[in-house]
Amino acid sequence: MVLAIPASLVTSAIAQSDFQPSPNAGKYAPRLTEVMNTAQVQHLKLWYAGKAKNWDLAAYELRQLTNSLAEAAIFYPAIPVSNVTTMTDPLLSVADAIAAKDDRKFAVSMRVLTNGCNTCHTSMDRGFIVIGVPAGEHSPVNQIFAPPANSRKP
Ligand code: HEC
Repeated sequence: MVLAIPASLVTSAIAQSDFQPSPNAGKYAPRLTEVMNTAQVQHLKLWYAGKAKNWDLAAYELRQLTNSLAEAAIFYPAIPVSNVTTMTDPLLSVADAIAAKDDRKFAVSMRVLTNGCNTCHTSMDRGFIVIGVPAGEHSPVNQIFAPPANSRKP
């Protein structure tokens, strides 16, 4: 079977995206959605690794997630650098919690980190993409699919 996607459709989908890769990114730059979906899975694994006190795995996933966020900024110049650098402190505090094997600090700093994901989404007109830690109603997924509270208001 031949997979035929009309070129016009692909082109218009790309044209509709606000995010063009940097001209320096080369022909095979990952789409921003790929970088972010990867970051989402890394965030999820990081959370479960920390919850399970598998600190080596948590440290590994944190490195991967940090690289994904750096990639988003390097490949996509439309993302303000300050939106990425504000993630530095939360990333460092998760790293500290992992180094100290401190599960309480881990949970707290993961929430701060997750707020950072959402702050950037809101500032980039993507406030409908709400990341959470996998707990409660949306477990085991780390994304909240209900409309954000402010968009539910009439
Ligand atoms: C510096 C800004 C920024 C930060 C920080 C950020 N994101 Fe994103 N994210 C974006 C933008 C911009 C989009 C929308 C991409 C698009 O429209 O093509 C996005 C989209 C997404 C999506 C939707 C992908 C899809 O196609 O379904 C997910 C999931 C996501 N981000 C996860 C995360 C997670 C998890 C974190 C935190 C660990 C995070 N993001 C941090 C900017 C950011």
